[in-house]
Amino acid sequence: MNGKLSLLGGTTTAGDCRAALGYLLRPRRLVRGPSIGTFERAFAERVGVRHACSFATGRVGLYAILRALGIGSGDEVLLQVPTHSVVANAIRHTGARPVYADCMPDNWNLDFDHAARQVTPRTRALVLQHTFGIPADLDAAIRFADGRRLVVIEDCVHALGATWRGCPVGSFGRAAFFSTEETKMISTTMGGMAVTDDDALMERIRAFQGTCAWPPRWLTVRYLVKLLAYHLLTEPRVHRVVRAAYEAVGEAQPLPRPTTPEELHGGWRPDLEQRLANAQAAIGLRQLGRLDANVARRRAVAQRYARLLAGRGFRPPGYPEEAAPSWVRYPFTVPDRSGAVRATHRHVVLGTWFTSVLEEALTPGDGEYVAGTCPQAEDAARHLVNFPTHGRVRQEDTVTLVDALPPTRQC
Ligand SMILES: Cc1ncc(COP(=O)(O)O)c(C=O)c1O
Repeated sequence: MNGKLSLLGGTTTAGDCRAALGYLLRPRRLVRGPSIGTFERAFAERVGVRHACSFATGRVGLYAILRALGIGSGDEVLLQVPTHSVVANAIRHTGARPVYADCMPDNWNLDFDHAARQVTPRTRALVLQHTFGIPADLDAAIRFADGRRLVVIEDCVHALGATWRGCPVGSFGRAAFFSTEETKMISTTMGGMAVTDDDALMERIRAFQGTCAWPPRWLTVRYLVKLLAYHLLTEPRVHRVVRAAYEAVGEAQPLPRPTTPEELHGGWRPDLEQRLANAQAAIGLRQLGRLDANVARRRAVAQRYARLLAGRGFRPPGYPEEAAPSWVRYPFTVPDRSGAVRATHRHVVLGTWFTSVLEEALTPGDGEYVAGTCPQAEDAARHLVNFPTHGRVRQEDTVTLVDALPPTRQC
């Protein structure tokens, strides 16, 4: 293989970079401008709902939805592990308590039997995650929630473009949130969207958006510079050299990080509550227009991984036939994760989401997770790895990556 595949990238084009450069050179419409509304309308149409409202991140989109639903102190919100710690942080920031349910071992989506045992009279909502873009069983979710008078909020952060029975995920729950952070289906470096069909709910979400600060111009500039830099540096031949240099100098990054130090401890900073900038919306809009091709490509790559991994004794993810995943990454488990990272290191930055039941939390206890309560998720946090599916993965690369894995027993 001629190069090294990055964890992210492959969703932007030279045209997106020219557009970003245009905003940097003529910054009048950098932060405020008409692309925000256009992106929101196009996003809603794509998800098949009436309304979409943009924010600086997906986590703020979730926070907006929870607030608009009146969820707060004394309430409980059910969510699965593994998840990202910022999901729990958004719930806790409303004053509500996150209550964790385990995942299923074959696709890391919610285990409804375990979830049923966590419901109490205080449970108000279920955050339903479509892990790695594999749709959770939405028929089961709606039955589960209706029978218990819970509101379903879909976590579609990995799943833009995924469908259930042919309809886009995000259109089944009372509301849903998405992310356009740089490792997701499309990238605006950071970005989030809250969607719903409910007019009154969206009025309250919009009112909250109105209280959010506009991002500082320098931050938007840094996001655009990061987008340009990553577009260039994640080209596989360049990435091979650059990644080695990055690993040599350690984790010191001059560019903005997706998760702040406070969030790693389970906290929330008021300055998270920001809007999406116009320039980012314009870049998102361009990629939304190419989403079908993006998803089709990821599905073709995923199909190859499934066949090759099965041939080598690994177990590909299982999911209901109603589900058509978006495959933001292609997940599977290995007996020895460090061994797999080392063995594939020459060819790929092997993905290791989720290394904790609450990804990136310095201790899951900061998010009120009690060790031992969700054993499948804890097992996933030890053994899950994922391969890239983005536009820079060629069909022949799938063979190289799977061949590079150490031999396995069934795991
Ligand atoms: C499953 C899941 N939900 C929510 C989030 C938060 O999205 P954002 O970074 O846009 O706030 C993440 C982040 O990676 C995630 O993996």
